[in-house]
Amino acid sequence: MKVTVVGAGNVGATCADVLATREIANEIVLVDIKEGFAEGKALDIWQKAPVIGYDSRTVGVTGDYSRTADSDVVVITSGLPRKPGMSRDDLISTNAGIVKSVTEQVVKYSPNAIIIIVSNPLDVMTYQAHLTSGLSRTKVFGMAGILDTARYRAFLAEALNVSPKDIQAVLMGGHGDTMVPLPRYTTVGGIPVTELIGKEELDAIVHRTAVGGGELVKLMGTSAWYAPGAAAAQMVEAIVRDQRRVFPVCVKLEGEYGMDGVYLGAPVILGKNGIEKVIELQLNDDEKALLETSRGHVQEVMDALDKMNQANA
Ligand code: LMR
Repeated sequence: MKVTVVGAGNVGATCADVLATREIANEIVLVDIKEGFAEGKALDIWQKAPVIGYDSRTVGVTGDYSRTADSDVVVITSGLPRKPGMSRDDLISTNAGIVKSVTEQVVKYSPNAIIIIVSNPLDVMTYQAHLTSGLSRTKVFGMAGILDTARYRAFLAEALNVSPKDIQAVLMGGHGDTMVPLPRYTTVGGIPVTELIGKEELDAIVHRTAVGGGELVKLMGTSAWYAPGAAAAQMVEAIVRDQRRVFPVCVKLEGEYGMDGVYLGAPVILGKNGIEKVIELQLNDDEKALLETSRGHVQEVMDALDKMNQANA
């Protein structure tokens, strides 16, 4: 299997590193526009192979998309990360142009690839990649839900003093402060989380999850990379190994949840064809209202993107 990761910054390099270390693909191509950057990161990952013990080959290239030809999966991480005080939406004008030109190159050389978007603002950049590639929702989608649930699971594991492995959770909505963690669908070793933690503490964890990316931006002065990179690699693994994992993913809704045409986080089955199925949960009225607020927010930013694209046409 051949996997390309576009963008050799912190997130892209972490994703490539996890793909190599866990031998998820035997050929990994890392691309960046900064001269020598991807080559250097790829060489470093390759030189770690004898120490850790893996044989996935990672190569780096500067802007040469011909080297990515016939990739099975492409992860796009390109674009600026945010700085303290910024929202993800503030990145739209810079990152939309980057995601557009990267997607053009990707589909030119790998017309059959499945594309995973990681660039922010995530839901809207996934929409941009769809507009540029013309690919159906099964083939172009975004990584956010695994990251957001990972944060939620990590906070719960800490609060309950249990292994994060035993916390199962699903989360919906946009990858922003309006995201919708779903405590009703959260279990700890099969036990509903609400039986193990008080409402106030759970609400605080839900809130901390929703602003979880911002917490890290404040701490580090830039966006997170270990969990985002690993989350993208986990999606690649589900596809290349046809695992049919159930993950929350940013996907174009086509009638599910009574919504049409909006890119939003929802649980899906991920396998060799990309999105194999969008799962429709039975939400209660409160959850529906939260999801509707999130949809409204993402739709506004999608509309802003449409206007930008019309102005640039
Ligand atoms: C994240 O959630 O870590 C990413 O979307 C990056 C960011 O700026 O929050």
